[in-house]
This record gives sequence, C-alpha cells and structure tokens, in this order.
Amino acid sequence: MTEEPAVLVRDVRKSYGELKAVDGVSFTVARGEFFGILGPNGAGKTTTLEIVEGLREPDSGEVRLLGESPWPRNVKLLPRIGVQLQASSFFERLTAKEQLRAFGSLYGVSHGTAEEMLELVGLADKADVQENKLSGGQRQRLSIACALVHDPDIVFLDEPTAALDPQARRNLWDVLRAIQERGKTIVYTTHYLDEAEILCDRVAIMDRGRVLALDPPAVLVRGLDAPTHVTLQKGLLSAVEAEAIDGVDEAREDEVSLTMSTRRPAPVLSALAERGALDGLQVRTATLEDVFLGLTGREYRA
Ligand SMILES: Nc1ncnc2c1ncn2[C@@H]1O[C@H](COP(=O)(O)OP(=O)(O)O)[C@@H](O)[C@H]1O
Ligand SMILES: [Mg+2]
Repeated sequence: MTEEPAVLVRDVRKSYGELKAVDGVSFTVARGEFFGILGPNGAGKTTTLEIVEGLREPDSGEVRLLGESPWPRNVKLLPRIGVQLQASSFFERLTAKEQLRAFGSLYGVSHGTAEEMLELVGLADKADVQENKLSGGQRQRLSIACALVHDPDIVFLDEPTAALDPQARRNLWDVLRAIQERGKTIVYTTHYLDEAEILCDRVAIMDRGRVLALDPPAVLVRGLDAPTHVTLQKGLLSAVEAEAIDGVDEAREDEVSLTMSTRRPAPVLSALAERGALDGLQVRTATLEDVFLGLTGREYRA
C-alpha cells in the first residue's frame, strides 16, 4: 500500500464576497516534510491553513489530511493533528506546566509528556511561572508545546515567529527543527523570507490567493539566475577598474562602497584577492526576496 501524502490540496477556492482569498490553490506535503507557506499579509496563507486543518470549509476543491477529509469536522483526525493556538487561548492563571497538563489531559496524555514538551521548547526552567508572566517568545513556545503535547503526526503553525525579537525567532527555529527531527510533518506560514529559506524543505510562495511558485528554496533561488553582488569599501578600486575584471558584469559606486554584479563570483573574488582589495568585502547572493520580486514585479513587503 502506498502511503498517502500528509496533505493534499487540489484546486481549493474560498471567496469572501467578491474577494478571492484562496483562488485555485494546489499542493501536497510529504510525510516528515517541513513545508512553508510564504507570502505578504493578505496573501491567503491563514485561510489556506485553516481549510487544511478542517476549521474552514472551502467553496470548492479537494483536501485530504493524512488520507482523510478534514471537513466536515473529522474527529478521527483530532488526535493526529496539532494546531497552534493563539497565545490568548491559554487557561487563566495556570503555570506553564499546568497549561500543558491541562491540554494533555484533554487527550489522556501522561504528566511526564508535559514535562518533556517543556524541555523540547526550552521552557523547563519556566515550568512554575504563570503563563501571563512569560515573555512573548516564551508564550509562543508554550503554545507550540501545547500543540504537540498529544504527540500528533502533523503540526500546523500560523506565523509562529511573528512579533518575536530576532533572538527569540532564532530560538524558535531550533525548536521547530527539533520537532521535525522527531519525524513530525510541519506546515507553517510565515512572512519572513529569510526564515523560510533556512527552515523549509519546500516553500509555496503565495500572493493574492494564488501559489506562484513551489519548490525547495535553493531551487527557487537558483532558477532565478540572479547575479551575485560583491561589495567593497570605496577607494580600493574605481568602477572602471572593477568592470575590467573578468567576470564582472557591472560596477556601481556610492559614497561608501563599490558594488559589482557577477554571475561568476569565483574568478572575481580571486582577482580582488590578488589586488589586495578585499577590505569590507561582502557577498550577497540572490534570496527568496529576489524570487518574489521576479514573480510579482513588486518588492517584497511583509
Ligand atoms: N472571515 C473573513 N471575512 C472576510 N475577509 C476575510 C476573512 N478572512 C480573511 N479575509 C480576507 O482574505 C484575504 C486573505 O486573508 P488571510 O488568509 O488571512 O491572509 P494571510 O494569512 O496571508 O495574511 C485578506 O484580504 C483578508 O482580508
Ligand atoms: Mg495570516
């Protein structure tokens, strides 16, 4: 028997009045995959996720979740899926550990699992702190632990890293990786392109209700054939000298720096090294931001 994918979405549509929030979306998520739905605000990420979770009914199209139909509400699926709650839906005045035990008891989970989940999300030392006294990042991690406490096969996270400071975001990345290493399938949304590039096996780039591209981040970036930018401190080379270097397509100067674009960075870097012109060197390759720009003609603004 071949195993069905964790998620299958085929030509799903959902309108609110005239607005096509989800406009013919299709994708599959393999078991164990870390799948990202990426796009600016209003792209249709949350609506898509809620349809897959079985929280919203699509107008049309097909959805399979772990081989089952999630709509109408399918109780067979509930023990197998974890949905991150909004941080506001904790029980009142309970400590972190008590929150987890309370969620766990809904599924008949042992107290030991609650402790293990606190450890996994790096909150073991906050076990006895009341949830409303935790920082934003700690509350996010607690809400993820609550989504995991019953050991689901697939976890859905809607912008888990939004509104976190950079350090808290990075801590959460480690948590998400640890969850994937436990063999879980993760489907998550983000408007952070850099983050999707680092975490996801594959990303669907959404804009205005449609999936514009779907691939591993590295494939999307490579497919762009965008140049690499090499930037130096100003004064080491003139723009004319830079453009004479084999491999440099174009050189531009501003007040502080000289930037060269190239599709062959290796010979350019060795030519610069030979001239001892490496001060302030920065190399920027194409990112998902460039992919978004290439797909939509618009700069990416979350
Ligand atoms: N319940 C709703 N009623 C009316 N419009 C909605 C509703 N939910 C979402 N929308 C609209 O649908 C579009 C997609 O929203 P959403 O799925 O939340 O996008 P994202 O999560 O990518 O920001 C937006 O234009 C949003 O305003
Ligand atoms: Mg959203």
